[in-house]
This record gives sequence, C-alpha cells and structure tokens, in this order.
Amino acid sequence: MVSIILPTYNEALNMRLIIPSLSKVLDDAGIPGEILVVDDSSPDGTAGIAEGLGKAYPVRVHVRKEDRGLSKAVIEGFRLAKGDICVVMDADLSHPVESIPHMLQPILDGRCDVTVGSRYVEGGGSENWSWKRKAISRGAGLLAKGVTSLSDPTSGFMALRKSVLDGVKLDPLGWKIVLEVVAKANPRVMEIPILFSDRKEGKSKLGLLVQWDYLRHLWHLYVHTFPTLEQFIRFCLVGLTGLLVDTAVLVFLVGWVFMDPRAAAVFAFSAAVTWNYFLNRIWSFRAAASTGLLSRYVSFIFVCVAGLGIRISVMHMLIEYAGMAKAPWYVLASFAGIAVATLFNFLGSKYVVFSSRR
Ligand code: GDD
Ligand code: MN
Repeated sequence: MVSIILPTYNEALNMRLIIPSLSKVLDDAGIPGEILVVDDSSPDGTAGIAEGLGKAYPVRVHVRKEDRGLSKAVIEGFRLAKGDICVVMDADLSHPVESIPHMLQPILDGRCDVTVGSRYVEGGGSENWSWKRKAISRGAGLLAKGVTSLSDPTSGFMALRKSVLDGVKLDPLGWKIVLEVVAKANPRVMEIPILFSDRKEGKSKLGLLVQWDYLRHLWHLYVHTFPTLEQFIRFCLVGLTGLLVDTAVLVFLVGWVFMDPRAAAVFAFSAAVTWNYFLNRIWSFRAAASTGLLSRYVSFIFVCVAGLGIRISVMHMLIEYAGMAKAPWYVLASFAGIAVATLFNFLGSKYVVFSSRR
C-alpha cells in the first residue's frame, strides 16, 4: 500500500483539485493507497475540506496543533502512514500527480528505495520561472553539493520505501525533508524527471526564514557527513584567537616590560599555547576531553612546539629551494608553513592530545 503525504498550510482551494486527481491516478495505475493530509491548523479550513472529501476519496486528515513546520509535518506523516511506501509532495499541484507512477515503479521493481522528482535531469524542468527564482534554486542546490549527488537537492517531491527510515533520526529543521532523508538514510536513490508548475491557487509560504533555516539545515548535514569538519573549523577559530593573545603578550612585554622581542616571543608563544589548550579542550574537542587536564596540556605543548618546527621547516625549504626569500614570496612561504603546521597541530590534537582513548 502507498501513502501519499500532503503537508498543508492554507491549501483549502487546492484540496478540491489535488485529492480527486490523486485518487484517479492511484485508481488508474491500480495501486492501493491512501492520501494523508498533515495540516498545521490552517486558518483557511484546509483540514475541514479535506475531511469532507474523505467521504468520496481515500483521505485521512491529521491536524497538528503546535510547532508549525513543513518537515515536522512530513515526519509526522511518516509516523502515521499505513503504507510501506510513502510519497511526499506539495499540495498545491506544483508537483505533477501524473508522475507518481514513474516515481513508484523503480521502488516497486526493487531497483532503488527512494526516488526524487528532479527539475534538472533530462526531461525535467520548471514552468515560467523568473531568472531570479532560477538563480536562487540553482544557488541553493549548489550549496548542497558537498552532502549529496542529487541534481535537484531542494526538491520537495519524493517516494520512499518506509523501511529506509528504520533507525534513522530525522532532523525536523526547515523544509528540505528530501535532502534530510537522502543525506541521513543514504538509500539507493533514482532521480525522476518532473515538470514543476506554478501553483494556481493560494500563495507560497517560502519566506526568508525558510531560506535561513535551509542554511542552518545544510550546516547540520555537513557536520553529519563530515564530523571532523566542525572540529577543524573550531580549531582554526581558536588558533586565530591564539594569534591575538600571542600578539598582545608580545606587545605588552616589549612595550611595558622592555623585554627583548625574541625573548618576549617565547612568553607570548607559551601564553597562546595555554590559551589555545583550554579553548580547544572545552570547545573544539569537548566530547573527548573530560580527563587528564595536566597530561593533555603537556602533550599539547609538544604538539605545538613540533608544529612550530614544521612551520619553520616548510618556510626554510621554500626559501632555500624554491627561491622564495624575497618579498612578497617569503610571506607566502610563511603562510604555507602555517597551513601545514595547522593541519599537523589539528591531527595531533585530535588523535593524540584529546584522544578519547587516553
Ligand atoms: N503542514 C505544513 N506546515 N505544511 C506546510 C507548511 C507548514 O508550516 N509550510 C508549507 N507547507 C506546505 C504547503 O501547503 C505546500 O503543500 C508545500 O508545503 C509547499 O509549500 P509552498 O508554499 O507551495 O512552497 P514553494 O512552492 O514556494 O516551494 C516548493 O518548491 C520549492 C522548489 O522551488 C517546495 O517544494 C520547496 O521544498 C521546494 O524547494
Ligand atoms: Mn508551491
């Protein structure tokens, strides 16, 4: 059995159009199914109208009372669906109901577990979109390339075998439930060309907040896909604050204590290392580092000193063998040294200093 999940917010007029069409498509294809409307208490009476249609069509309506949200509604739909296969689509007729059999067939044949309706594969497209909307859609899709190979990652149209969600924890943030399912469940996916048409009735609910939530959602997916990335970015940010501490101590010791800059640099380095240690401990690697305050500190110092050696060695090689002694090349050589040393320090910190096995 197939459950067609329709998340709705103020789609009263569209209910009378889409529900009969969906029911006809299922009948014609000989697929037993239900239409599950998940409404967020729409003020326009969407739920009541859908319920009324339940007399003539296989419709069930679930009304959510709080915590409005497209993905939340769809996840609730997965929970309530009776079918072992679910279809998720917009209720405003933007997603072509005629495509449903094409979306289901590969799953029924066992060729994949999820199909996604795509505007960007051969045969797909979108009806009279302005260049601005196209650009936003393309841009949003591009940002997701690091977590998915889908050609149309912001699509809201999919079919799935519900068992792919077993044991998968879905994040209800934002609108991109398709992306969430594909990135988290990592199922066998096929893309089906669809023609996205403009809604005829009502208006879009996609506002600025939805776009902001999309960026937050993407960040979560990147961190999920590359768990080390978040640590690395934190580590680099800590390193930048460490540079400020280093410079502040240096300037203080030279300017106020009249120390020789080279001697002062040793203290500046020590202060920055200590500062970085504590920040990395509580922020960058917090999960792993609850013990070994002193022993981890000592090993962090070793890693940093080795990193300094690496930085200078890289610089030395570039100056000596790549002719980078003169301005502005020596600055570049220094940057290269910093980059290699940062990577070394990060790996040392992650796998030695803050390793959970210690
Ligand atoms: N339950 C519930 N709660 N449903 C919602 C909510 C909500 O808070 N917000 C929107 N919906 C429903 C709408 O009623 C509609 O059925 C569907 O979600 C899509 O909303 P639209 O307002 O029509 O969005 P859109 O057409 O701008 O965006 C669609 O196309 C984009 C591609 O250009 C969506 O499919 C997007 O996910 C997609 O990126
Ligand atoms: Mn729409």
